[in-house]
Amino acid sequence: MHRPPPVPVLLLLLSLALAGRVSSHEESGEWSCDSSASEIRVEAPFLPGIITLDGRADDWSDVDGSEFSLLPALDPDDDKEYGGGKMTVKALHDGKDVFFLLQVDGDYAYSKGENTRCPSAALMFQIGESATYHNMGGCKEGRDSCTNKTCKGHEVDIMHFSIGNAIPGRLYGGNPIDNGKGNGGDRFGHLVDLYAWTPHCRYIDGTGPSGNDTSAQNNWKGAWWHSSLSVQSGFVEEDSPYASNGQKGAYYFEFSRPLRTMDRLQQDAQFTVGGTAKMSAAFWYPVNGNPWHGSGHFSINCDWVSMDISSGTSLLTKTASSGSSWDAASAFSLLFSVISLCLSVFIAYRNFGPKSAQYKPMEISLG
Ligand SMILES: *[C@@H]1O[C@H](CO)[C@@H](O)[C@H](O)[C@H]1NC(C)=O
Ligand SMILES: *[C@@H]1O[C@H](CO)[C@@H](O)[C@H](O)[C@H]1NC(C)=O
Repeated sequence: MHRPPPVPVLLLLLSLALAGRVSSHEESGEWSCDSSASEIRVEAPFLPGIITLDGRADDWSDVDGSEFSLLPALDPDDDKEYGGGKMTVKALHDGKDVFFLLQVDGDYAYSKGENTRCPSAALMFQIGESATYHNMGGCKEGRDSCTNKTCKGHEVDIMHFSIGNAIPGRLYGGNPIDNGKGNGGDRFGHLVDLYAWTPHCRYIDGTGPSGNDTSAQNNWKGAWWHSSLSVQSGFVEEDSPYASNGQKGAYYFEFSRPLRTMDRLQQDAQFTVGGTAKMSAAFWYPVNGNPWHGSGHFSINCDWVSMDISSGTSLLTKTASSGSSWDAASAFSLLFSVISLCLSVFIAYRNFGPKSAQYKPMEISLG
C-alpha cells in the first residue's frame, strides 16, 4: 500500500518549483496581484446544528457561498484559470466549531494511494500580523535560518487534505494516535495541520527547525465527496475507485475546526466570534490526468480573503451586498429610534419638567 508522499519530498518539489519561479520573477519584475477578488468576502454566520461532516453538500443548500475564480497560485493570470469552473466557499460556525465547504466542478479522478493523481484541497489562514498571503507568510529568511524567532509575526496556519488514501464520506484529520504523539499529522487520510513562515519553512504542527514540541494537535477534521458517487451506507477501501473515472460532477471538501485551539506555539489561527479572519483556499487537480506538483495549485485569490465570523443568527440573505445594506438599514433605524426617544424625553421634560430649568437650544442638547 502506498503512503502519501512525505512532507519533505513535497517541500523539496515545492522549493524546486519555486526556485524556478523566483528567477523568472526577477526577470519579469515584481509579483503582481490584481486582487479584484479581494472585494469578495466569506461570511461565516452562526447557524448551529445544520451541518453533518460527511463531505456531502445537501445540508449546506440554504447557506450562502462566495464564488471565486481559481487561478494558478504562483502565476495568477486569467488565461490560466482552472478549466473546470469556479470554487464556491461556504462557511458557518455553531459557537464552538467553524465549518467550511469547498465546492468545485471537476471530472471524477481518483487513483488510490497516489495523491497527485487525485484532487486535493487546502485552507490557509493568517496567524501573525505580518504574515502575507504571498509566499505563505512572507518571512525573508531562507530555509536554514527560518525559526520561530527570526520569522516571528509571519506565521500562517495551513490545513491540507490529500485524498489518495481517504475513503469518500469518511472522517479524517485529528485522530488519537497522531494527537497522542503531539503533532498535527494524520497517518490515515493525510488531512494534516501545518504552519509555515515561507513555502520553504513549512512544518506539521508541533514540529519545527528548533526541535519538536509534543503539545500540538491536529485540530482539523474533514471529509470529501464527488457528486458522481452513488449514495450508499458507506464505502470501504475495497470499493476504490468508488466511481468510474472521468464522470462529470463536482467535488466537495468539508472541514471543521474549533474556533479556538490549545495551541501555545503560534501554529494555529484563533477565530473570534464577531471578528474577521484572513483566509485563502487552494485546489490541486490532475489536469488531463497529469499528476500535480506541490506548487501547481489554484487559489481563490492572489491575496487574503476576509472571513467574517458573525455573532448573530444570520438570516440567509441572497448576496453579501444585500446583507450589508440590510445591516446598514437596521443600524440606521435603531439610531433613529434612539434619537426619537431622546427627543421625546427632552420635549416632555421641557413641557412638564421644573419651570426653573433653563431651556437650551436643541443643537446643543443633541450635540
Ligand atoms: C521532529 O518530528 C519530525 C516529524 O515527526 C521528525 O522527522 C524529526 O526527526 C523530529 N525532530 C527531532 C529533533 O526529533
Ligand atoms: C520555538 O520553538 C521551540 C520548539 O518548539 C520552543 O521550545 C520555543 O519556546 C519556541 N520559541 C518561541 C520564541 O516561540
